[in-house]
Amino acid sequence: MSGLDTIPPVLLARLGKPDSRAIDGYVADGGYASWKNVLAGAKSGEWTPAKLTDMVKASGLRGRGGAGFPCGLKWTFVPTKEKRGEKPVYLLCNADESEPGTFKDRLLIEQDPHQILEGMMLASFALDVKHAYIYIRGEMVHGAEYLNAAIAEAHAKGFLGTDILGSGVDLTITVHRGAGAYICGEETALIESLEGKRGHPRIKPPFPAVSGVWGCPTVVNNVETLCCVKHIVDRGADWFKGVGRNEKNTGPKLYAVSGHVEKPGVYEAPIGIPWEQLLAMAGGVRGGRKLKAVIPGGSSAPMLTAAEIAGIPMDFDGIAAAKSMFGSAAIIVMDETTDIPKAVTNIAKFYAHESCGQCTPCREGTPWLLKMLRRIVNGEGKKTDLDLLLQISNQMGNGMTICVFADAAIAPVISGITKFRGEFEAYIEKSTKPGFETAASSDITAAIADRTAAGMHS
Ligand SMILES: Cc1cc2nc3c(=O)[nH]c(=O)nc-3n(C[C@H](O)[C@H](O)[C@H](O)COP(=O)(O)O)c2cc1C
Ligand code: SF4
Repeated sequence: MSGLDTIPPVLLARLGKPDSRAIDGYVADGGYASWKNVLAGAKSGEWTPAKLTDMVKASGLRGRGGAGFPCGLKWTFVPTKEKRGEKPVYLLCNADESEPGTFKDRLLIEQDPHQILEGMMLASFALDVKHAYIYIRGEMVHGAEYLNAAIAEAHAKGFLGTDILGSGVDLTITVHRGAGAYICGEETALIESLEGKRGHPRIKPPFPAVSGVWGCPTVVNNVETLCCVKHIVDRGADWFKGVGRNEKNTGPKLYAVSGHVEKPGVYEAPIGIPWEQLLAMAGGVRGGRKLKAVIPGGSSAPMLTAAEIAGIPMDFDGIAAAKSMFGSAAIIVMDETTDIPKAVTNIAKFYAHESCGQCTPCREGTPWLLKMLRRIVNGEGKKTDLDLLLQISNQMGNGMTICVFADAAIAPVISGITKFRGEFEAYIEKSTKPGFETAASSDITAAIADRTAAGMHS
């Protein structure tokens, strides 16, 4: 493996080119060559869906949307033609990117939409998809416009439509705009939303690959994952496998680095580069200050202290070994001046706002966590609050709910309190109003204590 040597940008290669969104520039840079090649090979029998799927499997590509599930393997879960009968297969490109700290897909959408379309075309061929959708976060108004313009250009050039370039292959791509709900990024909520319903996650199984949109086999893939597919077909599985730390962490990767660094932004590097190298790419901790903590995979990942992240390979298994989550590789850097209780409260506000409300532990738990955290940072905390916060968090997560949103919501609370307990205690001790309690806050605490003592989870 060429491993971790710095590589020229792949996913971001076209970034900053004049009019990088236009199809002519994309084609001049070699774009759609793989699509044309696969279409031509489809006719001659040189390219088959199985061959393309095997290539993606061999590359070791793991999904870039958060869970890191092997992409090619997920594709093989779609039932064969014999089993699915007349049911069509759908491909959904997940462009809902809404997790605090995550902004890598937006760059791909706004700078190089044809790269995404070509990835979708190739994935559609592998999966026998005739209609693919891009589900884009409502706030990304420009992104939706650029994608629609790119689709129109691709149609005009004959890369989409029916009997594309005489290959016998048909494909339509449609952009579907969400309305700005974080939960719609969760694949089954996304499917519900696409069907025109509220974005409520579904119980799994059945998994979307078997029964997804309109009850048909559906593959949901992240924007960056689909872009990787395009480059795997361009350059081969061995090339992709040769970039990265090891066989389980392969390919180029986008890291969205934000917070207290000199140069926040999206950085491309071989997956698995050591933490220090990534931090250096982002200019180091701002103002030469000391590092305090890092959230390595979007707000849902447990935070790591400076000591815990030292030397860690920035990939799925490296971060998991450090007992956190690589997620979407949204790296939030916090320097020594960071007020952890306030940071945790801020994240808790997001989750309390975004719960879809289907499961009681999540619907009730997220606002209760927020209320208690607010009470602490407002100088009204009680000594028992921290253990109560941990107790409630533990009762919200670990499979108590339909989706993992609740687990995401409690991760910053548990890791924040566990690793920086002294800071929370300091807030509680230096309460400006000793003994102060609003009727409301004492009622809340008492109610939670009663209900948890009774073994209730809500
Ligand atoms: C609450 C929640 C929000 C999510 N948001 C996104 C998102 O915005 N974009 C994304 O690609 N995946 C998101 N995911 C992960 C998707 O459910 C799914 O795993 C992913 O789109 C699969 O694509 P991949 O295999 O290419 O990673 C989210 C998951 C959860 C639980
Ligand atoms: S865990 Fe939360 S977001 Fe997920 S389905 Fe239940 S209520 Fe909705």
